[in-house]
Amino acid sequence: VYKLDENYDYLFKLVVIGDSGVGKTSLLSRFTKNEFSFNSRSTIGVEFSTRTIRVQNKIIKAQIWDTAGQERYRAVTHAYYRGAVGAMLVYDIKNYESFVNLERWLKELRQHSDPDIVIMLIGNKADLRHLRCISIEEGSGFAEKEKTFFMETSALEDSNVEAAFIEVLSQIY
Ligand code: GTP
Repeated sequence: VYKLDENYDYLFKLVVIGDSGVGKTSLLSRFTKNEFSFNSRSTIGVEFSTRTIRVQNKIIKAQIWDTAGQERYRAVTHAYYRGAVGAMLVYDIKNYESFVNLERWLKELRQHSDPDIVIMLIGNKADLRHLRCISIEEGSGFAEKEKTFFMETSALEDSNVEAAFIEVLSQIY
């Protein structure tokens, strides 16, 4: 339910996807509430939060949808992707499987979303440098191949999180 008196120029729906545990909920709570929790629990079903920001003199309200990475909690797909104009496709830089599974997430995303959707590939948990198993080059190579944007982030250290969301929102705008 949207408040009628709310002031914004655009309302953009973004979705966050990727394997369970890569930090989707953490990126969202960092961006919308500036909070981080070490024991963020697995998302069940779908949740969303919003943040309103100013981009190039326009007020943009981002409505960001977050769903479970775990198969058994995923009821959605159509409804989840419907109307989305941006997507954050997230892997964990120390989890090889989450990187391999990007192919599957992209396929699902492309099946269900508008062809013009702006996609940002995010290598999260960049603070865990010593445990890294996906190099920046591998990440950016994948992004180049799939024609997505790319950033490494840390929801924990609050690095690049805001930048990644703002980049997507400005590309949409
Ligand atoms: P599902 O809801 O199961 O799909 O998981 P998710 O992708 O939403 O992951 P979530 O945000 O719940 O984070 C999983 C775990 O990773 C939690 O223990 C977080 O505290 C941790 N985490 C998330 N982001 C970071 C990060 O940038 N750095 C570090 N070190 N840990 C992180």
